Amino acid sequence: MKQEFISRREFLRNLGIAGTGAVLAASPWLSAFSEVVLTGKEKCRLGIIGTGSRGQFHTGFLLKNPKVEIVALCDIYRPSIEEAHKLVPSAKVYSDYRKLLEDKTIDAVLVATPLNTHYGIVMDAFDAGKHVLCEKCIGYSMEECHKMYKRHQETGLIFFTGQQRLFDPRYIKAMEMIHSGVF
Ligand SMILES: NC(=O)c1ccc[n+]([C@@H]2O[C@H](COP(=O)([O-])OP(=O)(O)OC[C@H]3O[C@@H](n4cnc5c(N)ncnc54)[C@H](O)[C@@H]3O)[C@@H](O)[C@H]2O)c1
Repeated sequence: MKQEFISRREFLRNLGIAGTGAVLAASPWLSAFSEVVLTGKEKCRLGIIGTGSRGQFHTGFLLKNPKVEIVALCDIYRPSIEEAHKLVPSAKVYSDYRKLLEDKTIDAVLVATPLNTHYGIVMDAFDAGKHVLCEKCIGYSMEECHKMYKRHQETGLIFFTGQQRLFDPRYIKAMEMIHSGVF
């Protein structure tokens, strides 16, 4: 039986995203996060904790989002903070994330530090009343993940994680195509 295949190019064209780069992959969940944080406010005031590779990538991307204002940057490594500060010269710079969390005007934080630090920083952020977007993986162990989830439920604060494929229209569309029998 002859099987009809669609080409990769055609597949991407069907999604309406042919020719776009990797930046698209990060956009849906970052945008969704800023949308849900906004409660009657015009802009989400965001602090970025961990301004290394991922933190700078997000910073560059979020600067294009009119609903987000990056007001604070934090890192313990000088080169990381210097590079991020070039992107957002107006942001206040911290070397201790706890000091950043003391700023009551900050609505949410994006945690892009190494995995072994996620749990402590996220729990402290919840304690400080911040909405949290934490890079993958969520925690170092299942126990940490459960505790973070429980704290999110107790506080009612938003918790988003950087599992971008859950929110990327390309993957959502691909799943639809699989379930509808196209593949
Ligand atoms: N969603 C994705 O596709 C994706 C892609 C790459 C990385 N990540 C995740 O992003 C996170 C960061 O990865 P990366 O590649 O940017 O690492 P990186 O090493 O480039 O950046 C991490 C930064 O965090 C800083 N840092 C460490 N401890 C800190 C602390 N206590 N307070 C403040 N800053 C601190 C480091 O100095 C460094 O600048 C990891 O959890 C990684 O798994 C996700």
